[in-house]
Amino acid sequence: MIIEESLSYDDVLLLPSYADFLPGETDVTCTICPDVVLNVPLLTAAMDTVTEQEMAIAVALHGGVGVIHRNMAPAEQARQVRTVKRHLNWIIESPLTVEKDRTVRDVWDIMERYNISGLPVVEDGKLCGIITSRDMRFCRDLTLKVGDVMTADPIVMQGKPDIDHAKRKFDAHKIEKLPVVDDNGVLTGLITVKDIEKHNDFPHAATDPNGRLLVGAAIPAVGFEQRIELLADARVDFFVIDAAHGDTKNVAEAVAAVKTRTKVPVIGGNIATREGAKRLIDAGADAIKVGVGPGSICTTRVVAGIGVPQFTAVVAATEEANSRGVPVIADGGIKYSGDITKALAAGASAVMIGNLFAGLKESPGTEIIYEGRIFKSYRGMGSLAAIQQGSGDRYQMNADEDPVPEGIEGRVPYKGELKPFLHQLVTGLRKGMGYCGCRNLEQLRSYRKFIKITAAGLREGHVHDVSITQEPPNYSR
Ligand code: IMP
Repeated sequence: MIIEESLSYDDVLLLPSYADFLPGETDVTCTICPDVVLNVPLLTAAMDTVTEQEMAIAVALHGGVGVIHRNMAPAEQARQVRTVKRHLNWIIESPLTVEKDRTVRDVWDIMERYNISGLPVVEDGKLCGIITSRDMRFCRDLTLKVGDVMTADPIVMQGKPDIDHAKRKFDAHKIEKLPVVDDNGVLTGLITVKDIEKHNDFPHAATDPNGRLLVGAAIPAVGFEQRIELLADARVDFFVIDAAHGDTKNVAEAVAAVKTRTKVPVIGGNIATREGAKRLIDAGADAIKVGVGPGSICTTRVVAGIGVPQFTAVVAATEEANSRGVPVIADGGIKYSGDITKALAAGASAVMIGNLFAGLKESPGTEIIYEGRIFKSYRGMGSLAAIQQGSGDRYQMNADEDPVPEGIEGRVPYKGELKPFLHQLVTGLRKGMGYCGCRNLEQLRSYRKFIKITAAGLREGHVHDVSITQEPPNYSR
């Protein structure tokens, strides 16, 4: 028997090298599966204390992407995906509309319900006007008809929408909404100043070709049929097959089946070996997610006695995946920004994180005050409470079985808003790239100059022989 050595992030460091540029000049864009390009290589975990619509919107606005968890009904998950996709647009493809014979009261109701400030008016699909809060401002009689109050013959854009052209029209006509019509006058979309301003406010947002935020969704390996249809309808950008043991017949078959039923890219996982990666790639996975047991809330390794320290798992999986042009996502075990640099230098295209994001304002749940400090809940999807809410199949359990958890329920310190925290993580990565002389993630992936360190080396690398009097935003023990 040969017992192989395997390493975790704490066992290694990257060797510094010459650089002729500053960290701020590095490029951290990455592709995590076909047509899904991120401006920062980070995914928020598909966990019910990490990623729902609010987190997914926040992280995508800043260049990463969220994967909405599946501990909720398929319709609710699809609704959340739709909310993320609607948050930012270049062109709203199916705008809400109203007919001429509806009342002003109806319009106010619709506008309030959907938090919008105006509606195109249509007759048999053809645009005949636009009604905005400006048109109704002095209108005391709420029973008046839309046709009497609307602006008829509004400024429109005809044919294929063009954003620069739209911006010029907004400026020239001092309007805020620009309906798009085809040659027959049929309404095909709506461009708003609000969306253009949002794009200007978030120039690094991770978006699809229509300028909508990217978002992923977790799906089970068994019983995904209805969910994938609803999610595809909501225009989800990718699926993540959410299973603790991804090197199984069920997961490989799920990858193949989802690929034949939809055009949405599929990320398969989780695996921790080269052979596991190969089997999922052979099944058709567009990307592979690596991690068996590294998660901060995970007890799989002690409960089941299996797993691979995460650095070695990423190296092994990427040897197979990268040779076949398939991206790898390193999932779990990230404690500091330096671990992100190590994971990407080990061959991953991006990392998925739960713990570090669970304490942010945008994660689900409210803040908890405990002994004078603020926390948020963070629990494993294999914890008792999460299993009771339906995630047992991720851990190969039936709903009627007595739960045998592979995760715990806990709390993490509250960290405030995502934006400044993400800046710390990404700048830590950029600094690592600068120290290695790698200008982009492709160069970092092929750098491959690691050294193994001892326990003394790890101790030396952390703060030692001093009490911290002012915690920095990117380090605590
Ligand atoms: P973290 O960032 O180290 O906390 O790891 C998060 C990752 O742990 C998730 O993306 C999942 O892959 C994994 N995970 C989530 N819940 C559990 C669990 O209950 N047991 C084992 N692994 C889990």
